[in-house]
Amino acid sequence: LSRIRRSATLVVEVDGSALVGHDFYSGRRTEISFAGLRALAALSDWSPPARAFASAARDRRALARELVALVDLGFVVVEGSAAAALDERLRRDWRWGSIAGRYHFGIKDPDYQKPDAAFRWVAQQVASEPEQPLYASHADRPDAVPLSAPPLDRGLLGLMAARRSYRGFDPVARLPLEALRDCLFAGMGITGFADAGVPGHAPLPLSMTPSGGARNPYEAYVVARAVEGLAPAAYHYAAVDHSLAPVAALPPSLGELLGGQDWFDHAGAVIVLVAHFPRCAWKYPHPTGYRVVVLEAGHIAQNVLLAATAHGLAATPTCAVADGKLEQLLGLDRVTQGVMHTVALGVRSPTPSMADLSDVRPNPRLGGILPR
Ligand SMILES: Cc1cc2nc3c(=O)[nH]c(=O)nc-3n(C[C@H](O)[C@H](O)[C@H](O)COP(=O)(O)O)c2cc1C
Repeated sequence: LSRIRRSATLVVEVDGSALVGHDFYSGRRTEISFAGLRALAALSDWSPPARAFASAARDRRALARELVALVDLGFVVVEGSAAAALDERLRRDWRWGSIAGRYHFGIKDPDYQKPDAAFRWVAQQVASEPEQPLYASHADRPDAVPLSAPPLDRGLLGLMAARRSYRGFDPVARLPLEALRDCLFAGMGITGFADAGVPGHAPLPLSMTPSGGARNPYEAYVVARAVEGLAPAAYHYAAVDHSLAPVAALPPSLGELLGGQDWFDHAGAVIVLVAHFPRCAWKYPHPTGYRVVVLEAGHIAQNVLLAATAHGLAATPTCAVADGKLEQLLGLDRVTQGVMHTVALGVRSPTPSMADLSDVRPNPRLGGILPR
């Protein structure tokens, strides 16, 4: 008989009065008996199946049935099986354990609310629960030091102040390739290399966004629906070469890739930021490395958005994504890679979408000089 081992991604928790096994990679859950728990505890390494029964007092048949069910669920893997191969990869390539793993794998493909349901939910919140203050003021602090007004009408701050999420995309006009080029380069382009001073260490890539330990954990993909001079398709952007290579055919709807947000259907392109976890985990095996990866997506997206603003595009970041659909489209490996953030880009239409904020107005406390 083949040897067996419990899955590396199995955690056991108490749920009500039951013990529940939960595989944080597959998301599968099942109730576990005390005998089953003891058996799982005994299977921390490859073992003959008999070891699972070593401490079983009675009802070995029930335990045998439970073990078969645990194998079916992938909670216990059989040496040489496909499930064991996946478990081996998870042990090797997912270094951040259950702390980051439960979060990372557990939040994929949520059941996104349709826009009207989301609107009703917020309306219900407003009606039923006091709102949270969304900024902290010094209005009651006579000791606060007032700062002079920043120059929001020009230069870098002018560009930053002009950035606004906008989802009204022209359904016909094509996104200029130069605008897409600049957005990709601003977020991702590798502008140079540097050394860490460790003998033998490979050169570290540098870009226009900071990267924890210069580990550069992101690759960018472009799902190009309507871009001048670019055949509609999904492309990979090689940040070191600054080029696009096709990877897949254009899917029918961009909105479907972005959690059913149909206001993105008319975007010219969506930039998809895909994390490669082992790049970061190699240096940071502690689960805080996961936080480093998440944060970097925001740095990259902001540069993309500022380049889009400079080109006068409509642009919006969205992390509401259909993880599974994007992973399949781009041929991603679910263990080592993950879609973390996206930015939709397009030519502006004067008509906003239903999701755009209304009545955008300046902050009256900003000393007179106000952004658009
Ligand atoms: C992490 C993150 C996720 C977001 N996800 C979405 C999204 O799923 N759909 C969307 O339409 N906008 C999304 N946005 C855009 C916000 O709604 C927008 O930034 C916010 O309303 C403030 O407007 P502003 O970008 O013009 O400052 C997201 C923004 C961030 C930073």
